[in-house]
Amino acid sequence: MDFNFNINDFIKTNIVKINNAIMPDTFNGDSRQTRVCQEIMSVILDEMGEASAKAQGLLKPITNTELLRNKDHIVYLLVEKEGNHGKGSVVGMLKMGRKSLYVFDECGDCHNVLCLCVLDFYVHESRQRMGYGKILFDYMLEEEHIKPIKLAIDRPSEKFISFLKKHYGLENIIRQTNNFVVFRGFFNNLKNNTTENSPRRSYGSPYRATLDDKVTYNGRFTAHKRESTIGKCLNWSGHDESWLAQVAPNQLYTMPHALASVPPASSSVKLF
Ligand SMILES: CC(C)(COP(=O)(O)OP(=O)(O)OC[C@H]1O[C@@H](n2cnc3c(N)ncnc32)[C@H](O)[C@@H]1OP(=O)(O)O)[C@@H](O)C(=O)NCCC(=O)NCCS
Repeated sequence: MDFNFNINDFIKTNIVKINNAIMPDTFNGDSRQTRVCQEIMSVILDEMGEASAKAQGLLKPITNTELLRNKDHIVYLLVEKEGNHGKGSVVGMLKMGRKSLYVFDECGDCHNVLCLCVLDFYVHESRQRMGYGKILFDYMLEEEHIKPIKLAIDRPSEKFISFLKKHYGLENIIRQTNNFVVFRGFFNNLKNNTTENSPRRSYGSPYRATLDDKVTYNGRFTAHKRESTIGKCLNWSGHDESWLAQVAPNQLYTMPHALASVPPASSSVKLF
């Protein structure tokens, strides 16, 4: 995509990362140049966002300056420096961001994971099927230290699904109700890190992943727990909550029933 300004004045490398300050990571200039650079990046983002939405048949862009400013997302831009008579052309765009998602594995178990997601991906029509998409995607994988199998993809098009199969061998799709897609293997190492006796089928389960996986669990089961007031009233000793693991997750929503079914051995119940 060509513009009537010289992109090379502001983008010094073939691939740059644009953050929510609407600035390329490689930029180095004074405050006046910063303002001009932001305006130029803004035009590029808006135009590329429009073109991407059109290519995907979307009603409105999912990438533009305003959306990027308000989110903690990163846009990778691929530039052909020799293009547009030496002024540089923008060839591709890839938007990434972390999201907390509820995702189902092949067994139908639901997990709440914080994972890196592909949110938008576009290569200009004049450069598609020439390897530019792969160059951009590979760069992102290296920057984010992540394997393709660990990514969640927002509404991938048929072209993108074909791209992932061809270049990264991803083909066993697990489609999600939230329009995201993950591939078989996304959950692999997570299951190796499950805690013993933790309930398998659960919402916001206490499974924990290593940082290397780039997928971490969150949700109320993994959050810091305050001291139980009911436990205090019932005079339970210590903080032994191992009995919780034996309670089915749905019982946790009906505490009186759960309490009646598994009283801790050391409790001395006082009725008021
Ligand atoms: C998906 C996309 C970003 C890939 O970029 P690219 O530069 O074309 O990809 P590469 O050249 O590195 O890889 C080419 C492979 O991608 C897939 N692909 C690209 N264009 C395709 C098309 N028109 N039809 C089917 N598959 C296509 C194929 O697997 C292709 O391999 P092949 O040519 O041997 O069949 C690009 O096609 C695009 O922008 N499409 C329109 C927007 C879109 O669908 N974005 C995905 C949003 S979720």
